[in-house]
Amino acid sequence: MPMTEVESAPSELQLVVLISGRGSNALAILDAIEQHRLCAEIRMRAVIADGPIEQPPAGLQRMAERGIDTALVDPGSHANRAGFEHALAEVIESYRPNLIALAGFMRVLSADFVEQFAGRMVNIHPSLLPLYRGLNTHQRAIDAGDTKHGASVHWVTAELDGGPVIAHAEVSVQSGDTADTLATRVLTQEHRLYPACLALLAQNRVSSQHETTSQPMPQHWLLDRDFDDTGRRLAVAGHARR
Ligand code: GRF
Repeated sequence: MPMTEVESAPSELQLVVLISGRGSNALAILDAIEQHRLCAEIRMRAVIADGPIEQPPAGLQRMAERGIDTALVDPGSHANRAGFEHALAEVIESYRPNLIALAGFMRVLSADFVEQFAGRMVNIHPSLLPLYRGLNTHQRAIDAGDTKHGASVHWVTAELDGGPVIAHAEVSVQSGDTADTLATRVLTQEHRLYPACLALLAQNRVSSQHETTSQPMPQHWLLDRDFDDTGRRLAVAGHARR
């Protein structure tokens, strides 16, 4: 039977992405899917953004131009956070996602909202968590004299940037780095890390906060050591990592 708009292969991960700004990570994920670079079946069902209707985030337009369903939920048209989150949850659930990927979604979510999507929601953060939760991560890494910096994909819990880490991508901090130069190199790694992580998750299906149905996650994964850009697991010293 030919597939229709609403039908999908049973093994296909149904993904919804949430953004607030330029959406470069969302675009990197879409590129990886459309160019068949991932060793998993993922379908981007929609990209949803928060923001004023008069000024939608730039990334939303970019995704619409690529033929992806987009939606904007305006916090200003709801009386309070609960109303906004209710509307947001309704739009998300209308796409029946297995996984929700926050990609530069700059809103602190309530514990109730997070609970509703527990084990189904991941985020990308520009630091090697648990280092540097919150903002200005690149400058903080430079100020601390770190030689290594990078990005993390982690499960979303009620604690801001505090959920279990799924994977890291590392970059070296070079002498003379500014927050901007470092941010640029980290972002390049984010664009590799996020699609590959989604492929890892898609292969095992998503079941709970930091476990997969078939195998438990190790402490966390490192891009280029434990898995590659396609989400394929790499063998180390003759032994495949879990
Ligand atoms: C990225 O650096 C991401 O790690 C952080 O916000 C930024 C979003 O960038 N959470 P973009 O909107 O994906 O370009």
